[in-house]
Amino acid sequence: MKNSIFLVSVFLLLIWSGCSFIVDSSKRKADSAVSAVMQDSAMVTAARNYANFCASCHWDDMGWFKTHKWKYGNREEDIYNSIEVGYSDFGMLGYADTLSEKEMTNLAKFIYLKLELKEKEEFKKEQGLYVTEELQIRPDTIITGLNVPWGLAFLPDGDMLVNEREGKMLRYRNGTLLAEIKGLPEIHADGQGGLMDIRLHPDYKSNGWIYFAYTGVAKKGQKGWNTSVMRAKLKDNELVEKQLLFEGIPALTANYHFGCKITFDDKGHLFFGVGERGTMKKVHELSNDWGKVHRLNDDGSIPADNPFIKTPEARPSIWSYGHRNPQGLVVSPFDGTLWESEHGPKGGDELNLIEPGKNYGWPYITFGINYNGKIISPDTAMAGMEQPATYWIPSFAPCGMTFVTAEKYKNWVGDIVMGSLRFNNLVRVKLKDGKVIHKEALLNNIGRMRNVEESPDGFIYVSLESPGMIIKLVPVGE
Ligand code: HEC
Repeated sequence: MKNSIFLVSVFLLLIWSGCSFIVDSSKRKADSAVSAVMQDSAMVTAARNYANFCASCHWDDMGWFKTHKWKYGNREEDIYNSIEVGYSDFGMLGYADTLSEKEMTNLAKFIYLKLELKEKEEFKKEQGLYVTEELQIRPDTIITGLNVPWGLAFLPDGDMLVNEREGKMLRYRNGTLLAEIKGLPEIHADGQGGLMDIRLHPDYKSNGWIYFAYTGVAKKGQKGWNTSVMRAKLKDNELVEKQLLFEGIPALTANYHFGCKITFDDKGHLFFGVGERGTMKKVHELSNDWGKVHRLNDDGSIPADNPFIKTPEARPSIWSYGHRNPQGLVVSPFDGTLWESEHGPKGGDELNLIEPGKNYGWPYITFGINYNGKIISPDTAMAGMEQPATYWIPSFAPCGMTFVTAEKYKNWVGDIVMGSLRFNNLVRVKLKDGKVIHKEALLNNIGRMRNVEESPDGFIYVSLESPGMIIKLVPVGE
């Protein structure tokens, strides 16, 4: 009896492995047929044309097409037509004068085939695996049921602190809610405002300081609210020894563009960005805190070598200015450089390498236009104003970001990964010598991504807004 069960099992196993071999090999054949076409010289030229003329707006990996709902059709002839006529109202000029008919035909075919290949990736994704250029990623859901999770910090005992924008600081242990932290200051949670980032002091283990950013309410006699930064310690899940380190001035009643991410360098300075609150050109006045990246010592005092410390009327915490809405902010653990991402208006989201005292130009220079389609500025460059390290049209609404340091992510090490609120994915930016050399959109449609952090044990965690959850990105073997 045992023998016959064994024989039947072996027989079934043979059939099963035979079938999967057939499925596999036919799939491989289809893949290699497409790959072969991709090698031919017309497609190689088309790839070059794509990189030259299209990738800046539609992304190197065509991620834009994957996240965008086709409006004008996705057959080869529709794509050809889009290339020929363009959509100038949306910033895409037609290419009839730039490319020959043959080049446009090949480009349309190239895009079509590339997106065909992408379909196969989507198939794998449904099975709980995302195939990306360098890695396969399995998203593991760690926490669910959150309401707009913003900041995320990892305590040395393995617990996680999660800030919800509406003003709650929550402590989780192994994915389960342990406590809601008490003793928070008064927070104005409305529009884009509320409780934002949270970050532990680099020497948290010895000093216990926790830093967090929120929309604070103006002192008596003033009207409105502004970005504030506080530090405190945790005792029995309550914030104690609270110190208000920064309170943006002047307060305003606008409910948008607050920033605000916090990051530390290795010299005990803390940096954070404050948004422009709709004040546009006023961000060039140094007597207010809007549209600036600020730097403080860890106790809130002003570092003696801040760039505007001797400028009359200037707010002494200013590190750089001319920003619209700084969302991501991170010091590179590799070389100490400071990187900031900010939202453009319609188009023109930026990644900036931030240097002290420099002017980043909003709204005098921008690659974006107004949401109503009107020009904000005809200029994308001007003397005395910095160019972004890279920019995006259309806007993907970059959010929290971090550097990848963990070796388990292999070729991602040294790259910046940033969340996209608008395209519901993660964007990986590869840097070399301070320059952006490649961009990839991955985990398409995973959800509206608010924040990205690397944990002390070297995993990338992302927070998603709707539905609100925390996900761990696990790299899966070759
Ligand atoms: C300056 C940015 C920009 C550049 C450069 C650009 N596009 Fe576009 N393109 C857009 C925008 C924005 C849209 C969406 C238009 C709309 O929503 O009506 C678009 C639409 C399209 C569409 C139609 C998508 C649909 O929904 O049907 C295709 C196809 C396309 N572009 C291909 C290309 C190709 C190929 C190139 C390079 C030769 C290119 N684009 C260059 C910005 C750009």
